[in-house]
Amino acid sequence: MEIKNSVALITGGASGIGYACAKHLASLGARIAIVDQNPAQIQTVVSEIESSGGQCIGLEADVTNEADSERFVEATVAAFGQLNIAISCAGVIRDGTLLNIDKNTGQVSRKLGFDKWKTVIDVNLTGTFLTLRDAAQAMVNGGWDGLLVPISSVNKIGQVGQLNYSATKAAIERFPKVIVGEFLLRKIRNVRCVGIAPGYTETKILQEMNQDALAAILKNVHLGRLIKPQEIADMIAYCVQNDALNATTVEITGGLCFEGNIAK
Ligand SMILES: NC(=O)c1ccc[n+]([C@@H]2O[C@H](COP(=O)([O-])OP(=O)(O)OC[C@H]3O[C@@H](n4cnc5c(N)ncnc54)[C@H](O)[C@@H]3O)[C@@H](O)[C@H]2O)c1
Repeated sequence: MEIKNSVALITGGASGIGYACAKHLASLGARIAIVDQNPAQIQTVVSEIESSGGQCIGLEADVTNEADSERFVEATVAAFGQLNIAISCAGVIRDGTLLNIDKNTGQVSRKLGFDKWKTVIDVNLTGTFLTLRDAAQAMVNGGWDGLLVPISSVNKIGQVGQLNYSATKAAIERFPKVIVGEFLLRKIRNVRCVGIAPGYTETKILQEMNQDALAAILKNVHLGRLIKPQEIADMIAYCVQNDALNATTVEITGGLCFEGNIAK
């Protein structure tokens, strides 16, 4: 697939990995639709891309809302006449252990809140489902070559303190297998699906993590530093251009190992 003149819709495109993808794909000649919740940040990205000579529209929307999802896909096709790349970057964390124990009594002092559970499931999992479903519908009905990019995480393996987040990322890691299998069944040949599972990447989502826990995790990264959002954007651009990559989730972690040096 060619990036030049393609159209890419990026949820969570106003920040972090989504922002890096928007700027990078725009620099390679794609037209961009940014979907996010923060209007000021959306406008900043749109202005940056336009002032570099690119084409970009900004769409304020909540990825958990089905009507919003249908609306932002339709608005993208209306603006640019097609849709080729859908990257589902909108994501959140709400960390906490299932149970907390009172040191004095040994009794449960706090449970993982239902609100924390539901927010992460809604944004990461349901949001990804809605975005990719509606983008795929447009690609199939339009007959355009397409790539769906669900964003998983290295924590799909199961991270302590992230039961909610790990559950969504484990599920998302499987999306390409099921979606492409169904496309084959339905004789849909023009749309691929390749997931990305990043390791710890330098974005604002990490500011919400326990910073001591993050520092401890970083000691086990062979690369010796956080991944840069641009490095994820480079990988996604590569996935767009390599038609043989399909029905899989690519890990880009810098070599994150368990204690004892076995790669995750
Ligand atoms: N940063 C990391 O270390 C890392 C590692 C692995 C996976 N990821 C995943 O990468 C994706 C992007 O994360 P990031 O690190 O760039 O974080 P980020 O916080 O910088 O960006 C996430 C964006 O999603 C948007 N968003 C959140 N909820 C939304 C909603 N309901 N509707 C629309 N937009 C919404 C936010 O406004 C924000 O702009 C997430 O799915 C995250 O889980 C991140």
